[in-house]
Parts: sequence; structure tokens; C-alpha cells
Amino acid sequence: MTGEIPSLEDLPIVEGTRVLLRADFNVPMTDGRITDDGRIRAALPTIAWLRGRGAAVIACSHLGRPKGAPDPALSLAPVAARLGELLGAPVALCPEVMGPRASEMAAALAPGGVLLLENLRFDPGETSNNPGLADALASLAQVYVDDAFGAVHREHASVMGPPARLPCAGGRLLVRELEVLDRLQRDPERPFAVVLGGAKVSDKLGVIDALVEQCDTLLVGGAMCFTFLLAQGHGVGDSLVEPDHVDACRELLEGGVVRIPTDVVIAQEIAASAPTKIVPATAVPDGWKGLDVGPETAGTYADAVRDARTVFWNGPMGVFEIEAFAAGTRTIAEAVAETKAFTVVGGGDSAAAVRKFGFEADIDHISTGGGASLEFLEQGDLPGLRALREGRRA
Ligand code: 3PG
Repeated sequence: MTGEIPSLEDLPIVEGTRVLLRADFNVPMTDGRITDDGRIRAALPTIAWLRGRGAAVIACSHLGRPKGAPDPALSLAPVAARLGELLGAPVALCPEVMGPRASEMAAALAPGGVLLLENLRFDPGETSNNPGLADALASLAQVYVDDAFGAVHREHASVMGPPARLPCAGGRLLVRELEVLDRLQRDPERPFAVVLGGAKVSDKLGVIDALVEQCDTLLVGGAMCFTFLLAQGHGVGDSLVEPDHVDACRELLEGGVVRIPTDVVIAQEIAASAPTKIVPATAVPDGWKGLDVGPETAGTYADAVRDARTVFWNGPMGVFEIEAFAAGTRTIAEAVAETKAFTVVGGGDSAAAVRKFGFEADIDHISTGGGASLEFLEQGDLPGLRALREGRRA
């Protein structure tokens, strides 16, 4: 599959070639400050390769979910500044996504120069996959590189449009992400353990359906375990449940691959100061909600991770941002770091947890795309990958 996607070496890049680079710079920010620059760092190998060949790089990305209009709080200005620091070279921010200013700035870019267009989602045409926006983006460059693995599951203009208009390729990050996911799908060394957490089981049912066919054990944590517990007829107190999905959870439990917690940490509210108790997962009293897996569950899940030869983990085991509910996620992160297995952490909160607990260096691959990696494992392909496969060749 990855073999069919053209790579950087397939592109006709010479000194001064203008390259449109779709990156995923959708980084977490607090008060205009980037709190995790992992996605910017992840794009550096491709940018360095392009600059090393004298290309002029016109980078573009979305940030957050603005409603198709400029929102100063979601400007890519902090990203341009951080990218410039990491590259040791200035990165100008073009104040628009398309228009005369973007054309002028792209045309004026010197070989090796890097320009960043403003947040693609300031233009309503990005999420509606508007051909006019795709034309405008493609007009800025001579070739297109997609390194935005985190966005390849989105049928958006900057992902779908340029590959049909310009010679295209997948960047280093995109190719690496696909190699890893391909290995999980095609040839996982066994036992293959999957750990899934997070709040909503509805977001994960599709991927659970796909993964139970592929893995040997699927360990469920996070608030989504309570819909499974409800499916077994247990009292879940005030825990988060999705009653519409009880039947689907019951069916999944019948296969014997899915395991759910035996004990949980409960509290009456999600607050650092709230008194907590550890109770059997089958007996959460009314007025209390489960906010982490308990120590027995964390221990058995960690053992399964240590015994595995392949591990995929997506989603925290509890509200790990609050210390009182962080132990389950920390125990899993530690086991994933320590196991001899090939380990992949799929994006988002679980990646943040691994970094928070200091285990980043001990994980084989931390994906930059939480949603994209889950959709890939569920569907085996994604729209942005199809666009590259079917796109123009040099
Ligand atoms: C992500 O953070 O998963 C990607 O950047 C995609 O963002 P989106 O879910 O807003 O499309």
C-alpha cells in the first residue's frame, strides 16, 4: 500500500522549485502559546530534505476548528515563529490562505526559503473541499507534498485537491506512519495487545470491530468501559454511558478478545479535591462515577502489555490530567515503555500522557494522527492516501 504512494525522490525538485507542503501543525495551544510542538518537529525531516535540494517551501496547515472565517486566536503565527526557531531560519507567515498576497509571497520565495500560509480553515473552502481553493493552492507551487498524516482522513481541499493538479508525493512523516500502521495490520508479531481508552465508545466501535479480528487481546479502559459494564447488567452509578451502544458492546464481549476492568476508581465529581474510592467495576454506587481503572485492572492490563510482542495503545485509562485519576494511565504508559514488544501509541491524549509521564523515548512510534490512525486501522485506507495514489506523477 505505502509502496504505491510516490515519495519525495519521485519528484522533479531542483534549485528554486516551489513546493506546496501540506503539514499538520494542529498543535495544542494555551493562551496563544504552543504547549506541545511534537507535530512541528515531526515535519522537520521533510522540510530539511526539501530545503537541502534548494526547494522553496510553501507550507500550509489547519489549526483548530474555526468556522470558515479568520479567528485571531487560531492564527498560525505562533507556529511560524516556532518553526523558524527549529529550522534556524525565518519563516514568514502569509496573512491569507489564497489571494494576491499569497501569490506574491510564494513567487518571491528564495531557494531554501520557507513560507507558511495562514490557517487553511479560515477559508470555508477547505472543509467543503472547494475546487477553487484547491486551484489557488496548487497555483502557488510546481509540486505538492503531503506530510499531514493527522489530516489524511479528511476530504478537505488542501488534502484532496493539489494531488490531482500537481506532481505529488507523501513526505517522510506520512510514509513512516503508514509503514508502522501497515506492520500492525499485515504482520503483527503475536501476541498482539491493543489498549483502548477514551470517553466515548461510539467513537471507537468501528475500530474495535476491525481490531478484534486482528489482535489477540483488546483491553478497554477510560469512560467507555462503562457502556460495556452496563451491557453485562452491572450498576455503573453516574458514570458516562451511551445506552444506544449497549447491544454492540454486548456482542463484542461475546468474542472473548475484549477485556474490561475488574475494579475502578470512583468519585462524586471530577475534581482534584474530590474524595475517591476503589470499588469492583461491577458495583459503582449511585451518585458516584468511574474516573480511572483500578490498580488490579491496571496491573493485569500492564501484564498483558509486557507479555505482548506488538502493542497498539490509543486513549487514556482515566482523567489523567488530575493526579487522583492518573494512576491507571501511568501504569499503562510505563508498561508500554518497558515491554519488549513493538509499541505504537496512537496520537492525541495517549501521546500527551506518554510525554507527561516521561516515556516518550521508550516508545517505538508515537503517531501524530490519533483520528487518522484509528480510521486507517478500521478502513485500511484513507481519502488523502487515495488522492496521492491516484494523483499526478512527475
Ligand atoms: C487532529 O488533530 O486529529 C488532526 O489535526 C485533524 O484535526 P480535525 O479533527 O480538526 O480534522
